[in-house]
Amino acid sequence: MNLFDSQTKKFIKDLQVGQQVDAYYKLQALDKRLKKDGTSFLAIELMDKTGKIPAKIWENAEASLKILKPGNVYRLKGYVNEYMNKKEIKVDSIRPASTSDKDFDAGDFQETCNFDAGDMFGRLIDAAKSNLDKPYLLQLVDGFAAAYGDKFKTHYGAQKIHHAYLGGLLEHTYSMMQLAVFIAGHYKLDKELLVIGTLFHDVGKIYEFTITPVPQATMQGGLVGHIVLGNAIFLELKNKIQGFPEELSCKIQHLIISHHGEKEFGSPELPMIPEAYALHVIDLLDSRVKIMEEAIKNSETGGLFTDYIHALSRRLYVEKGEKEGKG
Ligand SMILES: [Fe+2]
Ligand SMILES: [Fe+2]
Repeated sequence: MNLFDSQTKKFIKDLQVGQQVDAYYKLQALDKRLKKDGTSFLAIELMDKTGKIPAKIWENAEASLKILKPGNVYRLKGYVNEYMNKKEIKVDSIRPASTSDKDFDAGDFQETCNFDAGDMFGRLIDAAKSNLDKPYLLQLVDGFAAAYGDKFKTHYGAQKIHHAYLGGLLEHTYSMMQLAVFIAGHYKLDKELLVIGTLFHDVGKIYEFTITPVPQATMQGGLVGHIVLGNAIFLELKNKIQGFPEELSCKIQHLIISHHGEKEFGSPELPMIPEAYALHVIDLLDSRVKIMEEAIKNSETGGLFTDYIHALSRRLYVEKGEKEGKG
């Protein structure tokens, strides 16, 4: 018998409230909580290549806890509920997926990006180099591509909030690079400095968190953070280049470490030169517009406004025609 026929195989984006579920999903996150009677239940998050959905395991939480590990794929049965205007799965039974499950397809749990990351990385490096003259900066970009290109191409832009998918860091940086070149020309800034600052500003994210099996902070990520890690990557590459000017090195470091704009957001210094301020604003613009696009596209309220978005401290207006048009 086909355990996973076309009537039960459901991708997360297609799930409807009231529907029975019998499918494989990857466990993203797991949280043990207490019910009012003092016994425990599990609040979990599931994903497949089409999206994510919260789920609850109300019964036998302790037994389930023993078999659940974020990053692994499980076969579960249950049904789709609605809670606080959002879909979630009430799980009736859950077990690890096994290699003997004939219809299990590992490809269903791998996120992909909707662009060719190798091609976009080539365009990023070309965009950087075509705006540089100084030989030691060209050497720096070559060093970056050779040492960090492979990781950089596939990493997420963030664990959760924006660009949280394969290639997200690259897409974010390439988008910013185009803005940086334009803004440097418009304000007559030091274009070479802004281009290098843009390229390196978030490279520390490749060590800040893992993306497999699930996005998760690393020890360095939690204790040091991507700003300082990115600065260390720049210094490591710069130190291999003979005669790299000290003032330029300091300015590049300043762009990297001040790009969050405020001390309360993790930058040890405020932007103190126009190029650093421009980098901060470009970063903010690119990440915030992306948060807005993703929130509007994924809104499940069914109404004219999204849920409250903490990262932006507001709800967003969902233009119906736009949302449906984008699909
Ligand atoms: Fe950052
Ligand atoms: Fe960024």
